[in-house]
Amino acid sequence: MSLAFLLPASSADASASLRTHAAAKGKFIGAALATSPLSNETSYRNIAATEFNQVTAENAMKWDATEPSQGQFNFSGADAIVNFATQNNQQVHGHTLVWHSQTPSWVQNLGATAMRQAMQNHISQVVGRYANNATVVSWDVVNEIFDDNGGWRTSFWYNTLGQSYVADAFRAARAADPNARLCINDYNVEGINAKSTAMYNLVSSLRQQGVPVDCVGFQGHLAIQYGFPNDLRQNLQRFADLGVQVRITELDVRMQMPRDATKDATQATYYRNVVNACLAVTACAGVTIWGFTDKYSWVPDTFQGQGAALIYNESYQPKPAYNAVHDALAGGTTTDTTPPTTPGTPTSSNVTSNSAALTWAASTDSGGSGLAGYNIYREQGATDTLLAQSTTNSATLTGLSSNTQYQVYVRARDGAGNLSANSPPATFTTTSGPGGGGGCTAAGTVQTQWSTGYVVQPVTVTNTGTSAVTGWTVTFTLPAGHTLTGSWNADVTVSGQTVTAKNAGYNGNLAPNASTTFGFQVSRPNGNTQTPSGYTCA
Ligand code: XIL
Repeated sequence: MSLAFLLPASSADASASLRTHAAAKGKFIGAALATSPLSNETSYRNIAATEFNQVTAENAMKWDATEPSQGQFNFSGADAIVNFATQNNQQVHGHTLVWHSQTPSWVQNLGATAMRQAMQNHISQVVGRYANNATVVSWDVVNEIFDDNGGWRTSFWYNTLGQSYVADAFRAARAADPNARLCINDYNVEGINAKSTAMYNLVSSLRQQGVPVDCVGFQGHLAIQYGFPNDLRQNLQRFADLGVQVRITELDVRMQMPRDATKDATQATYYRNVVNACLAVTACAGVTIWGFTDKYSWVPDTFQGQGAALIYNESYQPKPAYNAVHDALAGGTTTDTTPPTTPGTPTSSNVTSNSAALTWAASTDSGGSGLAGYNIYREQGATDTLLAQSTTNSATLTGLSSNTQYQVYVRARDGAGNLSANSPPATFTTTSGPGGGGGCTAAGTVQTQWSTGYVVQPVTVTNTGTSAVTGWTVTFTLPAGHTLTGSWNADVTVSGQTVTAKNAGYNGNLAPNASTTFGFQVSRPNGNTQTPSGYTCA
């Protein structure tokens, strides 16, 4: 159970600023600031100063602003933001040193040796300027280095220098300020998918090589029409487990215009869920919103027909999203006693002598603490047995007895520990035992999908035999027109529409009843809703 949802905060500070509540939780709440309204508008300045304890320059620290021509540095905008932050007791996150965008053409046209030198000099000058300034505490050293499938973005940096520019950039930043926290930052990495897994693998490998990567930034440019990344908290935690700090760096939640009350309410739940995910992960330092007023947001200029992505409207009035961020940070002023909705009837598949896959319609949670996962029980008259727990709306039950009827049901859990009502039951009977020898099963779950693709994760591979195996092969068929764009934790080959996934070097050994997982991402024709089924394992 999460104490945050049980302990009432002192009522005196219930209406305090965002930064007061965030600080009480040991987190920052930040905003990206634009230099022009910061110098011209009192309302902008007042909210920026009073509501946030962290700021990021929306544009003023980018290369085109700080070194427009080679060796000619201009820190006027950057200094204005740093000075404002110092006056208001805020920390500054430097954004961003090495990026493919907003970088002058003189950099892009250099040859390899000159480009590496220019990069190192830029980092040394920009980071060095604030190295002894206590306000500037962290930097985005590299930004957006992956493409959407988790490959390296073929930017001019990559095309000229290869992968090595990333490690070189981090080493140069560490040399320029040994005390600054050094981050890698990207978008569409909020959930577990091919891109975030590529990020995970890179951060892990860089750190193993001693490259000073201290922190991972998840931009968080979300849109209500694309759904919320429900595994955000789980994803933040897997990075935290690598030993890095994590943070949400550029949160905004856009919608198709015009705004209405329903969209505002959905948007508010997205903001609340992001803040709650950060609060739930100890290594999450805080959340930066990409601006704060709809009067100044990059969204309408970038995403046609969309807008209203921030927590104040154009007249500096707080929106429902402001209250959601506020109440999540204040966490505890309201106790969550509302259980999640009841899960759907589970469906069983891939029933073997000792295992079965279950999937059910997901629950939602409106009580404030958020959906945490599901418990799967076996109905046994007196005390029902907890068979498994899952963070997604599917599970593979293992270690079952052969030739036995099981009646099972599911209950959803929220972050405060409330349990939903029981789902209707499902009944299945395990097969008779194999009597020795091998055998395995595989079952896949669609984790997220959008109009032109989907992620299947996990595919759970279970050794249903009575002896250990040292390797496995799973095959399945992609619907016509679908193409595989990435995979992880398996060696995957594709022939026509047939996909063959063999264990990776580290997950081939399975004792009897043991399971492992892999995942993959697919793109499909716009509007097609099919996903693969019928996984076979050998
Ligand atoms: C955006 C700014 O908000 C705009 O004003 C500018 O025109 C373009 O860049 N990812 C990032 C940010 O890392 O730097 C981008 O900021 C938004 C996407």
